[in-house]
Amino acid sequence: MELRHFIDTQDFSKAELLDLIELIRMIKMADKEGATPKLLQDVSLAMLFEEPSTRTRISFEVGITELGGHALYLKPGEIHLGVRESLSDTAKVISRYVDVIMARTLKHETMLGLAEHATVPVINGLTDYNHPTQVVCDVLTMIEHAQPGKKLEDFNVTFIGDATNVLSSLMLICTRLGMHFTHAAPKKYQAPQQWLDWANENCRESGGTVCVTDDPVEAVKEADFIYTDLWWWVGQEAEIPERRAAFMPRYQVNMELLKKAPAHCKFMHCLPASRGVEATDEVMDSPQSVIFDQAENRLHTEKGLLVWLVYPRLKKTDEGFKKQKADEILKFLEKMG
Ligand code: CP
Repeated sequence: MELRHFIDTQDFSKAELLDLIELIRMIKMADKEGATPKLLQDVSLAMLFEEPSTRTRISFEVGITELGGHALYLKPGEIHLGVRESLSDTAKVISRYVDVIMARTLKHETMLGLAEHATVPVINGLTDYNHPTQVVCDVLTMIEHAQPGKKLEDFNVTFIGDATNVLSSLMLICTRLGMHFTHAAPKKYQAPQQWLDWANENCRESGGTVCVTDDPVEAVKEADFIYTDLWWWVGQEAEIPERRAAFMPRYQVNMELLKKAPAHCKFMHCLPASRGVEATDEVMDSPQSVIFDQAENRLHTEKGLLVWLVYPRLKKTDEGFKKQKADEILKFLEKMG
């Protein structure tokens, strides 16, 4: 079975991503009926974190457990990761113990290094460049909350705010799937040219569109979904006054801005959020907000992703053969006394 990692949605075709989303949807439906299939019985998942997490950490651990496997939470500083031993040695060793690795790394290069040397699937749980598991979950959430009858290829998605790792992933998955994507931000915080080049390349194949503007009102006029993320992150504390001045009040998603969008428009946020900063409480708790459905969908997404990557690699051992092996070992133990 070919070894595949989940590092970047750009590594997958539109058809593969749609298959993955359909698998996630089916597992979610089974879960809602109380019938989650135990497809990953006894599978071990190593969860490596260089940064704290609420959603990613909990959804992966609960997800693998519900599928019949188990997770090892390796918190920041818990194991050698490029310190005291090479990253390649760590990746090779962990691969001998577990069936799948999920990692959140500070640097994208660390993620690429893990994937290069691991001999089991590696799932990217966020780096300084992207957050692919989040945006697969986001597309599922959009499909669930779209206007009835509206095709994926007709979705207008507007991201307002900083060019974060979530923005890069969202822009790339939306354009790969043929949607219409707009990024609204002050010039200094707009998506870099490289991301736009990739997004435009996606659009040439998919028929989608991508646009960057500094006008948030224009950007939301036809939006089916408005998405925002934090304006600053850990390590950017010194930039807070400058960033706040650049974004506030024009780029805050508040009721005034939301009302400029069509009435059916939904509000999304990957969370964690700084309430009252990039979005107001009124918007986050409004009937148009789908943020908690979105957060729940992380759990279903992780389950689908784990099944997709790991199930085809599992050895399907015959029960009779397992009993024969157990009998041999038991006989040897008896002989040992
Ligand atoms: N959205 C997201 O990845 O949340 P955590 O940082 O809590 O995992």
